[in-house]
Amino acid sequence: MDKRQRAGAGLSRRHFLYGGAILGGGLLASPALARQICRLTEGDILGPYYRFGAPFLAKLAGPEEPGELLVVSGTVLSADCRTPIANALVEVWQANSSGLYDTQTPGNFTDKGNFHLRGMLYTDAQGRYRIETVMPGRYPVPPNLPGLERYGGITRPAHIHFRVMESLHVPVTLQLYFQGDPYIAEDPWASAHPDSAIALQADGGGRSGVFDIVLARGI
Ligand SMILES: [Fe+2]
Repeated sequence: MDKRQRAGAGLSRRHFLYGGAILGGGLLASPALARQICRLTEGDILGPYYRFGAPFLAKLAGPEEPGELLVVSGTVLSADCRTPIANALVEVWQANSSGLYDTQTPGNFTDKGNFHLRGMLYTDAQGRYRIETVMPGRYPVPPNLPGLERYGGITRPAHIHFRVMESLHVPVTLQLYFQGDPYIAEDPWASAHPDSAIALQADGGGRSGVFDIVLARGI
């Protein structure tokens, strides 16, 4: 089993063991209880820095990119939390290690300039994805963003934005956070989605974590 396969296997175990910790580990063998703890991945805001049309690549950051190496891998699953979704489109975007996006113009979604720290990929036949990047930096919510005025100046915890879609499932837009970030508690979006915060492990010269995504069936 290679590193990627191990990550995928650990992912599934983590997903159900989490529920087992709540319900009692000995009860985990019950399929009925396993279904109870199976949750769809919750959606989150798109945010002001999305841009449409990012290139197809899974390695968002090259060796010259400042910051700590980060690998995020996982599996996109159907609503039963067991059936992998092959060929799901996974779109990711993030700030650099200094908390800056490649555009600092909020709402400039159709900007076709150079894409940086953004990419799209398809899950493989087992529903797996894997991105290589750097730890995103925190940044303040800009002042006077339409609809977000009351949050201006709040420091956002480190996060990576995702949009995930597949033809038979309901698309989800979300943000991935990292457990232990002290800015999660004060952030209205991160604090509302605790399941979207993953643990990171030291991995070689950087860190790695596993995040699986569960989509509702569309039909
Ligand atoms: Fe963001």
